Amino acid sequence: MDQLQQQVEGLNLNAIAEFPNCFPDVNPLDVYRAHLSNVLTEITGVDKNIIYPALSWTQSLDKGDLVLAAPALRLPKGGPKPDQIVQEWAAKFPENDPLFEKPHVHSYFMSFFFRGAPLVSSILPTILQKGHKFGTNPSLGLKDPKDPSKGQKKIIVEFSSPNIAKPFHAGHLRSTIIGGFLGNLYEGAGWDVTRINYLGDWGKQYGLLALAFEKFGDEKALEQDPINHLFQLYVRINTEMTEEKEQIAKRKEAGEDVTEAEANSLDEQARRYFKKMTDRDEKALAMWKKFRDLSIVRYKQTYARLNIHFDEYSGESQVSESDMAHIGHQLEEKKISKEDNGAQLIDFSELVPGKEGKRLEKPLVRKRDGTALYLTRDISELLARHAKYNFDKMIYVVASAQDLHLKQLFKIIELLGHKDIADKCQHINFGLVLGMSTRKGTVKFLDDILRDVADKMHETMRKNEDKYNQVENPEAVADVLGISSVMVQDMTGKRINNYTFNMDQMTSFEGDTGPYLQYAHARVCSIKRKAGLSDEEIASADFSLLTEPHAVNIVRLLAQWPDVFSNTLRTLEPTTVLAYLFKMTHALSSSYDVLRIMGSEPAVLKARMALYEAAHIVLGNGMRLLGLSPVERY
Ligand code: ARG
Repeated sequence: MDQLQQQVEGLNLNAIAEFPNCFPDVNPLDVYRAHLSNVLTEITGVDKNIIYPALSWTQSLDKGDLVLAAPALRLPKGGPKPDQIVQEWAAKFPENDPLFEKPHVHSYFMSFFFRGAPLVSSILPTILQKGHKFGTNPSLGLKDPKDPSKGQKKIIVEFSSPNIAKPFHAGHLRSTIIGGFLGNLYEGAGWDVTRINYLGDWGKQYGLLALAFEKFGDEKALEQDPINHLFQLYVRINTEMTEEKEQIAKRKEAGEDVTEAEANSLDEQARRYFKKMTDRDEKALAMWKKFRDLSIVRYKQTYARLNIHFDEYSGESQVSESDMAHIGHQLEEKKISKEDNGAQLIDFSELVPGKEGKRLEKPLVRKRDGTALYLTRDISELLARHAKYNFDKMIYVVASAQDLHLKQLFKIIELLGHKDIADKCQHINFGLVLGMSTRKGTVKFLDDILRDVADKMHETMRKNEDKYNQVENPEAVADVLGISSVMVQDMTGKRINNYTFNMDQMTSFEGDTGPYLQYAHARVCSIKRKAGLSDEEIASADFSLLTEPHAVNIVRLLAQWPDVFSNTLRTLEPTTVLAYLFKMTHALSSSYDVLRIMGSEPAVLKARMALYEAAHIVLGNGMRLLGLSPVERY
């Protein structure tokens, strides 16, 4: 805001009244919108508080920077037609406005273009000065925007949540990518973020796994590679169990007495083992705890490669049995659940009127043997989290295959009398990844995929020997590029869309891919290295030398970044950020030939360097928001 005031004569900042959602200190475009609203109020007589929110973005730069549709101003009926009135308004728009050129008119739209010089000389210093913070807006997460001492709003993001001893499948990968991004997003918006990993680590199958380890487990293999070893045990014991079941069924058919066989079966042993676990038998729990702890150590290593950490490794095992018993009583007392053949279920069609009640089906909350289910644990866990964190919002990042499960969960919380809590919860869902496989076969674990993609990127890098030799740690760079490939492909479409995992496409340098985005970032970095100017020198540039349309257009895009950030808080879609970043990279790549650095006069070189440095900052900020690690060179 100061920058604009210093640079733009005639800009009446006092007239930039307090608009709601106007943050002139973090978003320079808010100053533009406020100023324009004031000017248009004079011309149209419409309240500026109606104009301000009606100023919208354009699809592309050739359509202007802001656009106003006359019907959005709720004009009184019976007056001139919107097409005609915008003509009149445009004619009255001041010739010498400090920030805007005279508007263009098309049908009932008025499009506004920023004047180049004031834009360039206010946006670039703002970006250089704010650096990593440019775009974020910490006041959005304040409990009371007018009184920061009241503190930040609290959000829980639950994501990733794989199941121990089972494959870390595509659903977990997407949850990890999207959840990591959402955590960063809310942090940038000033919320107090807690990241929770809700592990699948409880149930009869973990009793079975312990049995498997007793039979054919290997201490050493477990320590070295817990994820794979446990998975092997899991597959082996499940195969044995299935065979055993078939045999027993056959003998039964043949009229044999199978009572003893059933009592000694793996299934029954697993049930007994798990019973001991729920009774908190120390010996039974020790084994399970070791599996869990070792798996978490491994998960943490993989998450670190993806720039992700969790504040809490919770999980189905952590849900208290007594809490669940207590909630069970409440469900019965309030007649939410009912007995059915010894079990307890919730028949939503009797509780929720109309189609919705039918759609919610009839989930079980207690089995006949008294044990709890996935849904029961989620009910307890949700309430326990609310008691522990008193959150303002909680997000569950879970595949859309569990849409029904989460709808049931939120509805039960509401029926229990906690509509306020249910309203704070949101399911962020996403579609399937089709055909995910490594080059050697179908994929089981995330690590296999990441290794494979990194190998592929390493091969590609080696093809350019000169460049390859300049990269300090090519393996590490290949790893980052591989991860970027996977993540960018995942974030390209809307979350709800399914997509096909395509290794060749994602690792290509052609098109809007991860490697291309990294290349664009590395390229602006290399310009800075070659120019050899310090940050102080760059900041002292004479911005008025940047008059070429290519330069102004890049600045127009850079100016949008804070808006893109706040819009992303509305869409909660990684693609909102990604699409913007690719627009930036395209504008940059078409400008390198026009806005040369090498061979330019020192003053021009410095000004262009300031432009590229600002682009470097915004690209990096966007990439980090998505969870990517921008590379400096490759
Ligand atoms: N572990 C579950 C699965 O792999 C996902 C957990 C989702 N979160 C939840 N609170 N239910 O399907």
